[in-house]
Amino acid sequence: MRRSYLLVLLTLLLSTGLLRVTLSIGENDNNIDGVNNLVFENPSLRKAYIALQAWKAVIFSDPFNFTTNWAGAAVCSYNGVFCAPSLANSSNRVVAGIDLNHADIAGYLPPELGLFTDLGLFHVNSNRFFGTVPKTFKKLRLLHELDLSNNRFVGPFPRVVLSLPVLKFLDLRFNEFEGSIPVKLFDKDLDAVFLNNNRFKFGIPPNLGNSPVSVLVLANNSLDGLVKSGDTKLKKGLIELFTANNGGGDGAGQ
Ligand SMILES: *[C@@H]1O[C@H](CO)[C@@H](O)[C@H](O)[C@H]1NC(C)=O
Ligand SMILES: *[C@@H]1O[C@H](CO)[C@@H](O)[C@H](O)[C@H]1NC(C)=O
Ligand SMILES: *[C@@H]1O[C@H](CO)[C@@H](O)[C@H](O)[C@H]1NC(C)=O
Repeated sequence: MRRSYLLVLLTLLLSTGLLRVTLSIGENDNNIDGVNNLVFENPSLRKAYIALQAWKAVIFSDPFNFTTNWAGAAVCSYNGVFCAPSLANSSNRVVAGIDLNHADIAGYLPPELGLFTDLGLFHVNSNRFFGTVPKTFKKLRLLHELDLSNNRFVGPFPRVVLSLPVLKFLDLRFNEFEGSIPVKLFDKDLDAVFLNNNRFKFGIPPNLGNSPVSVLVLANNSLDGLVKSGDTKLKKGLIELFTANNGGGDGAGQ
């Protein structure tokens, strides 16, 4: 008897817990300030509004007042937000790009950014964003450029990028990412990958030669025994492979 009580209680706790998780990733958006009183051009811009307001709420410093105009339904006129006709329906404008480069903003990336399902470009280089890359980024099925460089991101390699089907440009340089780099990265159809100036550690990935990238920069990590020999070639011809300061080894392979 007591045992089944506990079970019911546990089930209740679990289901409310799950509910809270669902709420916190913005599936239920009625808790976002004012969204129900605004009129949006289309549902996609309404979702973008929710994402942008959630993001603004976790921006703790914005010295150039970059996000001051992030208010109201006209999200396409917010600083750093770029709209374009939707690929699915060209009569609808959607948020196709975010560019906050050099804004010196401090804050983090909330899970609601997964609502930007039309996003092609996400550039936040040279800010003070910290924390990790939300798992909800897996919903950015059109993202082809991700530039998180020169921020304060931490934690393991953001594996969520491996699930982005059209990603071509990945720039994680000058952060505090650590640990190993997934081997799968070098099987992805990427054009350019910048991982330099982090705390990554790894040996020579066996499949490095499979990578179709034309630029791969790995310098200034703790990369043991990495491609010093000069005989590492990438499929499409390696343009630059800097290996300076990788655990003491200097040299550029080609
Ligand atoms: C940003 O806004 C604050 C408060 O309105 C103002 O004091 C400050 O000078 C503004 N900064 C810039 C760079 O415009
Ligand atoms: C495209 O969007 C417009 C405006 O929102 C809408 O009226 C139209 O029905 C949509 N077309 C399709 C094929 O979904
Ligand atoms: C690696 O670090 C050194 C020393 O801080 C710096 O001069 C160099 O530009 C860095 N290399 C890259 C590719 O960022």
